[in-house]
Amino acid sequence: MPINILITGAKGQLGSELQEIQAKYPEFNFIPTDVDELDLTKKEAVATFIDTHKINYIINCAAYTAVDKAEDDVELCYKINRDAVNNLAEAANGKAKIIHISTDYVFDGKTTAPYKTTDATHPQSVYGKSKLAGEDVLLAACPESIIIRTAWLYSIYGNNFVKTMLRLGKERTKLNVVYDQKGTPTYAADLAQAILSVIVHSEKTQIFPAGIYHYSNEGVTTWFDFTEKIFQLAGITTCTVHPVTTGQYPTKAARPQYSVLDKTKIKKTFEIIVPEWEHSLEKCIARL
Ligand SMILES: NC(=O)c1ccc[n+]([C@@H]2O[C@H](COP(=O)([O-])OP(=O)(O)OC[C@H]3O[C@@H](n4cnc5c(N)ncnc54)[C@H](OP(=O)(O)O)[C@@H]3O)[C@@H](O)[C@H]2O)c1
Repeated sequence: MPINILITGAKGQLGSELQEIQAKYPEFNFIPTDVDELDLTKKEAVATFIDTHKINYIINCAAYTAVDKAEDDVELCYKINRDAVNNLAEAANGKAKIIHISTDYVFDGKTTAPYKTTDATHPQSVYGKSKLAGEDVLLAACPESIIIRTAWLYSIYGNNFVKTMLRLGKERTKLNVVYDQKGTPTYAADLAQAILSVIVHSEKTQIFPAGIYHYSNEGVTTWFDFTEKIFQLAGITTCTVHPVTTGQYPTKAARPQYSVLDKTKIKKTFEIIVPEWEHSLEKCIARL
């Protein structure tokens, strides 16, 4: 019997990276969909799709990810980040196992130690609140699910900080970048690999250890240092990076000041080795 894995939001950063590595897993039958093939806000269509395709696992990469735009686009943001997750959860319960992706923005960032999966949440933005609401409806409707919170995601695909900085670094001679927000970048290709390790582990042990996990690359940095590393690896020497405070670079949505994630649980449970963020950044820039 084939193991059917539904990838939602397959045209996004993470969904695209999952498709890149699918050839390494011939035992799995990947079914990539994005909004055109399967709009997750359509409840009946979601249920029918899961039944018709005999889905065993769902990797939910679909999301409303425009963090600043979400402050004015509250209804659509919740429709995708909460209600669509509920549709998946209700349709999958007892049939398919869900691996859902969430965010460091569920935290307020008012700490100085890496966030454990058990730490209290307190999102500061509409996006963060909608993602937390998505976690809650998932665990209520389909408690045997896995949630992986990640942070500062980038990839060769889609729009992300690395690609923006590479473009601006070539266009400008000077850039102001925030230095007082700490976190860890996550190369979507590494996260994709970690997600498939979860499924491989689950198939091998026949145990699906439901609950919340954290995944990012190893290490800690700031947006300023991240940018300097991007420029160094890409050989950009014509643009100077200036450190500024969050107050000097206001954004519509508040970001956590500190959002380093503690990855102990995911590393131990699934025996995952997490690459250092600089090494992964180098790999991504080489691919771009
Ligand atoms: N990006 C980050 O820095 C970051 C950080 C932490 C956590 N995360 C989380 O990581 C996950 C993956 O993020 P990503 O950066 O890969 O996202 P992404 O590139 O924005 O991709 C999300 C995909 O979902 C699709 N989608 C939107 N509405 C949909 C619907 N109703 N039905 C089906 N698909 C729909 C989007 O299509 P359209 O483009 O047409 O809307 C897009 O292709 C998300 O859960 C996100 O919240 C991201």
